[in-house]
Amino acid sequence: MDDFDAFEPEQLVQRHTQPGRSLLAILHAIQDELGFVPPDTVAPLARVMNLSRAEVHGVLTYYHHFRTHPAAPVTVQLCRAEACRSMGTEALAQHIEARTGCRFDSAHQAAQNARHAAVGLESVYCLGQCALSPALTINGTLHARVTPQKFDALFAAATKRVEETA
Ligand code: FES
Repeated sequence: MDDFDAFEPEQLVQRHTQPGRSLLAILHAIQDELGFVPPDTVAPLARVMNLSRAEVHGVLTYYHHFRTHPAAPVTVQLCRAEACRSMGTEALAQHIEARTGCRFDSAHQAAQNARHAAVGLESVYCLGQCALSPALTINGTLHARVTPQKFDALFAAATKRVEETA
């Protein structure tokens, strides 16, 4: 068993279940602990919350915030909501895909290659920086008014940091 498998879904759910705690709050707590919400937790969550598996799965997949697989070592979240779109986020997305060789929101592929994927590209919808768009995060750090040149510098720095800690 490696770190990826080092959780027991039943225990994980029990640990974060408290009287009166909502499903959303539990999902947040699990993701805060592991960095993602393992699909194996859907069944125990449905049981303790007295919901169907479909209902839990629906909530888990409805919110872009929740991920069902570990994040790649370098994870870019690009805002593709209204204000950022009006400031060229789609052109920036094309640049990012060309620069990284990855596709946005290829979650299935990322899940399959999670242990080996170096870069993950995710679309999000508003990072609260609408006046400073386009905005994105790299490994959780927020960056505003991002140009292709600025992205290249930020991406190079993030990749270097990951390589240094590998
Ligand atoms: S629309 Fe992109 S930060 Fe709000």
